[in-house]
Amino acid sequence: MPYFDSFQRPISYLRVSVTDRCNLRCVYCMPEGGVAQIPHQDILRYEELERIVRVAVGMGINHVRLTGGEPLVRSGIVELVTALAAIPGLDDLSMTTNGTLLARYADALAQAGLRRVNISLDTLDPKRFRQTTRLGTLAEVLAGRKAALRAGLRPVKINTVVIRGLNDDEVVELARQTFQPDWHLRFIEVMPLGSGVHWAGDGVVPSAEIRARIAAAWGELTPVHGKTGVGPARYYRLPHAEGTLGFISAISEHFCHACNRLRLTSDGQILPCLMSNQSVDLKTPLRAGVDDATLQEIFEQAIRAKPRGHHLTEGILPLNVRPMSGIGG
Ligand code: 5AD
Ligand code: SF4
Repeated sequence: MPYFDSFQRPISYLRVSVTDRCNLRCVYCMPEGGVAQIPHQDILRYEELERIVRVAVGMGINHVRLTGGEPLVRSGIVELVTALAAIPGLDDLSMTTNGTLLARYADALAQAGLRRVNISLDTLDPKRFRQTTRLGTLAEVLAGRKAALRAGLRPVKINTVVIRGLNDDEVVELARQTFQPDWHLRFIEVMPLGSGVHWAGDGVVPSAEIRARIAAAWGELTPVHGKTGVGPARYYRLPHAEGTLGFISAISEHFCHACNRLRLTSDGQILPCLMSNQSVDLKTPLRAGVDDATLQEIFEQAIRAKPRGHHLTEGILPLNVRPMSGIGG
């Protein structure tokens, strides 16, 4: 049984940022020169992460997602997956990646026990991809997606952050991909986080607008039954499409009522809510040698600290001072 927070939400999902480092510099996430990095000695070691996840799973967390930065730039990541996949009660182990290194790692990750991956991809145009990520090559990510599918890391979901003037003219073309097998796309409203704060506000394209543009081109979007209530995305399908289209609308369509998650940063802080600056320090007590019961109490404290929701719709910006790359999306 999962723990319930103060608003009767079951907390069953933990996002674990394994590193704040990344091999890309997406314009809405980081400045060109990168952001200040967490010192190595502050980053949780794999044994520490494994112990923390064991405690969390003992409390009813059944889904863990590894994030970054870019999780695949941390060395030994396959060994971490092996260790976590062996934890009884962890039903789902997934990863969010920018896909650049997936072609190299997909097979090993699948063998180690990773179930599935989400890949961040904002454009299908090679030149625009380079401009948006500053350092990335589109072909690598597409090869990574193929490798993930071949390795059975399914479903592969594509996450697309939509920003007006940057890639919003591509939503119709992106949506077209779902007529092919294995294309599941999720459009994400850009949030006022990270170092690209200027993208929020004017940059936000409300999901309703994206849906209208897609429907005008390809026909009506039918809600996918049973998938709409789980997590932040609302899912639809185009007529005769195989794949699904999801919408994650932190700004225009609140989903806080369905929030089921906690986040762990790579330096061992539990974040009760993405949109709040609140954090609960797990690393200091862990390194001071506390027992598992105490770690569990710290998790309980973080769950109790989860706010009912955020106030972005009213134009109130969060206080989160951490760059998005240090939170893991
Ligand atoms: N708003 C919305 N999504 C963002 N991501 C990174 N920065 C932002 C932002 N400001 C996304 C990435 C990736 C996920 C981990 O978070 O594109 O899909
Ligand atoms: Fe890296 Fe993801 Fe940030 Fe892009 S959005 S710079 S891939 S952490």
